[in-house]
Amino acid sequence: MTDLLTLESPRLWLRQWQDEDLAPFAELCADPTVMRYFPAPLSRIETAALIGRIRGHFAEYGYGLWALERKDDGAFIGFTGLSHVRFEASFTPAVEIGWRLARDYWGLGYASEAAWTCLGCAFEQLGLEEVVAFTAEPNLPSQKVMQAIGMQRDAASDFDHPAVAQGSPLQRHLLYRIGRQAWLQAMHD
Ligand SMILES: CC(C)(COP(=O)(O)OP(=O)(O)OC[C@H]1O[C@@H](n2cnc3c(N)ncnc32)[C@H](O)[C@@H]1OP(=O)(O)O)[C@@H](O)C(=O)NCCC(=O)NCCS
Repeated sequence: MTDLLTLESPRLWLRQWQDEDLAPFAELCADPTVMRYFPAPLSRIETAALIGRIRGHFAEYGYGLWALERKDDGAFIGFTGLSHVRFEASFTPAVEIGWRLARDYWGLGYASEAAWTCLGCAFEQLGLEEVVAFTAEPNLPSQKVMQAIGMQRDAASDFDHPAVAQGSPLQRHLLYRIGRQAWLQAMHD
């Protein structure tokens, strides 16, 4: 199998998680602004458990949510990557692409840049036919990343996220998709 443990984009390493990532990642996941479209910020223990699940996904599938390290100064800035959707919906089974960056690194194009690398991995190395993405309806910054990497909204597949409380404004999720052909097309646009 191809070694997917480390990928790269022009400005970033997409690498495996290191123990030193816990402190900055816990700070990021405890930031109410970063987490405003999730049910709640995470405690340090919850963040450590999340890193454990991410490492488990890499161990099982060989790919996952890569830690992002800025090449020029080695800063840990968040994650971007691919993961199996763990709940059932009209669009599953599916592999989703997702991202979460510390606030200091927003507005610099890093999430989109890393996401391009992940789509390349999905279609060229993993041989997937399609990648999906979803986010709470009010999360416009995340939808902008989806659009920037050529994903298309599939309104017919919008859904209520099973992990979000009934009646919450964050329950309704929008579904975006990109297939291999559309990705090839977006690459050449
Ligand atoms: C979603 C999230 C990753 C988006 O981050 P982002 O930095 O806005 O996204 P991008 O990497 O695509 O950067 C795009 C922005 O960088 C700007 N930019 C600056 N330099 C750039 C460059 N070289 N290339 C591309 N864009 C650049 C763009 O103009 C754009 O700014 P704008 O939003 O003001 O128009 C970020 O808001 C986040 O971490 N949110 C919290 C977690 C979250 O909600 N995750 C998604 C859950 S589904």
